Amino acid sequence: MRLLLGTRSFPAVGLGGMPLSLPPRPAHPERLLHLALDLGVRLIDTADVYCRNDDDLGHNERLLAAALRDHPARSEVLVATKGGLRRPGGDWVEDGRPAALRRACEASLLALGVEQIALYQLHAPDSGVPFADSVGELFRLRTEGKIAEVGLSNVSVEELGEACAIGPVVSVQNRLNPLDLSSIDVLRACEGRGIAFFAYSPVGGSEQLEDVLTHPELLAAGQAHGVGPGTVALAWILSLSPRMFVIPGARREASLRASVAAEALTLSAEWTTRLDAAFGLPGRP
Ligand SMILES: NC(=O)c1ccc[n+]([C@@H]2O[C@H](COP(=O)([O-])OP(=O)(O)OC[C@H]3O[C@@H](n4cnc5c(N)ncnc54)[C@H](OP(=O)(O)O)[C@@H]3O)[C@@H](O)[C@H]2O)c1
Repeated sequence: MRLLLGTRSFPAVGLGGMPLSLPPRPAHPERLLHLALDLGVRLIDTADVYCRNDDDLGHNERLLAAALRDHPARSEVLVATKGGLRRPGGDWVEDGRPAALRRACEASLLALGVEQIALYQLHAPDSGVPFADSVGELFRLRTEGKIAEVGLSNVSVEELGEACAIGPVVSVQNRLNPLDLSSIDVLRACEGRGIAFFAYSPVGGSEQLEDVLTHPELLAAGQAHGVGPGTVALAWILSLSPRMFVIPGARREASLRASVAAEALTLSAEWTTRLDAAFGLPGRP
């Protein structure tokens, strides 16, 4: 299943790079990244702040750059990164000031070893900075050729509308998993505007992973389809929209394989209806 992102199409199951750079870091992240590429993953999400703290900014981007450098599929891969947060003392702090975004973008260009970032996303609106100022700076970076496309993350329907009035937005990345459908309105707004939606923490992230993987309906659907509950969760999310990408994270090969399997899984109509009811989906368009 290939989906449109801007003018290019990609398989709907991507990879989120974050767990490879947060403790506990795996011993051989490059092996996992190469396996992802070998399995057909072509969209990888990262950020300057996927690292331990401000002294370690760009850790995940450098890992990706090194892994891609010697892989034959490198020219087919879209690496999407983000700016707009900092990591003082390991915290996550908003910084959407235009000058900070510019510095972050320039550092990401170096960390990724590219002349242009394919997709640069505002990590989150900064409550201390007018949203239009942050977004406006991303479009200036686009005009200058430092980034090819602009994306957003952690935005509301209203913020999406405000950004679209400034320039073309190609993607929105918000949290969405079977137990957190709070961004369904943003998903539908993306569909209406022809914008790709990236579901982050699609298996629940660190907070809800256990609840997702032990959910009785996901376990039962997994048994019926011969896969695990994480694969069902991703296939169900993908069934929500033709604009939907998932960017599950993974430290372990088994998680990665379970995620890629969602690409080929079509849930039966009966199970789709059952899962819609179990997770309180407010209808399908
Ligand atoms: N924009 C934002 O603000 C934001 C916030 C959070 C995350 N993200 C992005 O979203 C990506 C994914 O989010 P996440 O890593 O927090 O959570 P997640 O994708 O829900 O994954 C959490 C953990 O679940 C396990 N897992 C993944 N796929 C699985 C599957 N199919 N079956 C069973 N277990 C599975 C993995 O464990 P193991 O590590 O043990 O393999 C993984 O580390 C991040 O890497 C990042 O790129 C963005």
